[in-house]
Amino acid sequence: KDGVKIAADLLAHYDVHARRLAWRAPPGANAADPYRVWLSEVMLQQTTVAAVGPYFTSFTARWPTVEALAAADDADLMAAWAGLGYYARARNLLACARVVVRDHGGLFPDSEEGLRALPGVGAYTAAAVAAIAFGRRAVVVDANVERVVARLFAIATPLPAARPVIRAAADAITPDARAGDFAQAMMDLGATICTSRNPACGICPLRADCAAVRTADPAAYPVKAVK
Ligand code: ADE
Repeated sequence: KDGVKIAADLLAHYDVHARRLAWRAPPGANAADPYRVWLSEVMLQQTTVAAVGPYFTSFTARWPTVEALAAADDADLMAAWAGLGYYARARNLLACARVVVRDHGGLFPDSEEGLRALPGVGAYTAAAVAAIAFGRRAVVVDANVERVVARLFAIATPLPAARPVIRAAADAITPDARAGDFAQAMMDLGATICTSRNPACGICPLRADCAAVRTADPAAYPVKAVK
C-alpha cells in the first residue's frame, strides 16, 4: 500500500535526522513524558520551535511535573510566560494542570477524547499528545503537515475547502505503529525540507512518493483560494 511506503520512508529518514528538540524522547525510544509533551504542544500552538526552546527548558526546570505546575502561583506562571504571548494559553495551562491533578490523580488521559475534555486542549493538541506521549494512532495535522500532505497528493482543491481532503489523506498515510514519531517526522519535514517557499525537493525522503514534485511548481501546493 502507498501509505505504508510513505510512512516507512519518512520514519527511516526521521530515525537519522529527527531534530533533537528538548521535549522529545529519542526516535524509537519509549514514549515521552505526557506532561512535557502537553506543555510543549501548548507552547508551540502560536509560537515557533526556536522561540519555545528556552521557555520549555526554564518551565520544566522550575515545574518538573504536572503536580508542581498545578501548585504554581498564578502570577508566577503569568510572569514566566511573558514573551510567549497569547496569554489565554497560560491561564488554560494552569487550569488544565489543576484538573489533571484534581480529577485524574496527576495522570493525563491517554485518549484523544479524554484529552479533548481538558481546559485549553483542542483537536490538534489532543491528537498530538495521544500520538506522541501515548503512542495512539491519531491524525495530527498542523499547518506544516497540511502543506506536506497537499504536496504529496498534489491536492488541487484550494484551502480552506481542501482541509477535509487533506485530513483524509493524512489519515490514509498515518501508520498504526509509531504514530507519534510519524507526526513529528511530518512536522520536521514541513519545517526543514518541505518548506512553504523553496522546498528542498532534491533531498526529500518522500521525493519518490510525491505527486507535486512531478509538477512544474511543487511550491504551488497547498493551493490558496483566490481572494
Ligand atoms: N510543532 C508543534 N509540535 C511540534 C513537535 N512536536 N515537533 C516539532 N514541531 C512542532
